[in-house]
Amino acid sequence: MKLFNFFAQELAIDLGTANTLIIQDGKVVVDEPSIIAMDRRSNEVIAVGSKAMQMHGKTHENIKTIRPLRDGVIADFQAAESMIEGLIRMVGMKRRFFSHLKMVICIPSGITEVEKRAVFDSADHVDSKETYLIHEPMAAALGIGLDVEEATGNMIIDIGGGTTEIAVIALSGIVCDQSIRTAGDEFSLDIISHMKREHNIQIGERTAEQIKIQVGSALPKLDNPPEDFAVSGRDLMTGVPKQVLISYSEIAHALEKSINKIEEAVMRALDTTPPELSSDIYERGVYLTGGGALLRGLDKRLSQKIKLNVHVAEDPLRAVVRGTGIALKNTDRFSFLIDRKSI
Ligand SMILES: Nc1ncnc2c1ncn2[C@@H]1O[C@H](COP(=O)(O)OP(=O)(O)O)[C@@H](O)[C@H]1O
Ligand SMILES: [Mg+2]
Repeated sequence: MKLFNFFAQELAIDLGTANTLIIQDGKVVVDEPSIIAMDRRSNEVIAVGSKAMQMHGKTHENIKTIRPLRDGVIADFQAAESMIEGLIRMVGMKRRFFSHLKMVICIPSGITEVEKRAVFDSADHVDSKETYLIHEPMAAALGIGLDVEEATGNMIIDIGGGTTEIAVIALSGIVCDQSIRTAGDEFSLDIISHMKREHNIQIGERTAEQIKIQVGSALPKLDNPPEDFAVSGRDLMTGVPKQVLISYSEIAHALEKSINKIEEAVMRALDTTPPELSSDIYERGVYLTGGGALLRGLDKRLSQKIKLNVHVAEDPLRAVVRGTGIALKNTDRFSFLIDRKSI
């Protein structure tokens, strides 16, 4: 048995629309943006993860960057496979240890059967002998430390890059689930159009991302406000580069509509929750995970809207991969894991 364990390799993978994370032996060994760069002519992969991200928005005609999981679905199968393989290879497992590779991969819950098969195929390409998939809200719940098997309802709101997933979990299953395509990417687009409209500045996705992190806010008034952030871009009128100072209040204004959509989706989810589970949620409050959970003031704003406690998960960008890691240790026990035979 000991010998078998020595040759066994186990990986937990959170395949996110914005970031992919991998846990091996309880440690996060890969934490990279979900993006690849390819040669347009040969279709060869030039870079994966952060190396490819550095090229994003700066490519010339022979290189293209692709985010294979755009809106919570696999937008480009071939690119998705190459990315998954590339990121797994980053773990740097030695070939002779591949004798028994076991993986649990967390997938967005909107993914279709065909897309699930594509993820299994990518796992086969890296020689995985035992592969399971897990839906994102379930992994998030495990990562938060909730007991997903008990007869109590818990509501998880995961705000990722492509989608916001709102799910109620009880008795090892997802009881109800709302998924909307308003999340981090949409926030970035809001910021890009705000900069254009209000400041006549054209900025790229990466600058929008920086603004969101530096001065992003869901409320126009915060108790601990961040300092204004200097943004450089090209003036659309004169064509010359210029710099403007951006405050969190104006970003709160720019994000208003998108945050409204998330609030409405949460209200709908609460509305469709069976009464016995509603009372559990009423007592416990709701849990926020995903990168969007880090947006300043979002917990407070949501809590005022739904009149419930809102808990932000510890290290929300890693809750899902932590939960996937817990699933990996319990593949015999958790009935909600998907194996190849069940699709
Ligand atoms: N501090 C922050 N404030 C607001 N948004 C953030 C922050 N940090 C990361 N994000 C956003 O979170 C999103 C990524 O979250 P993540 O949970 O990794 O998504 P996914 O699971 O879809 O890969 C990105 O859109 C990113 O811009
Ligand atoms: Mg995620």
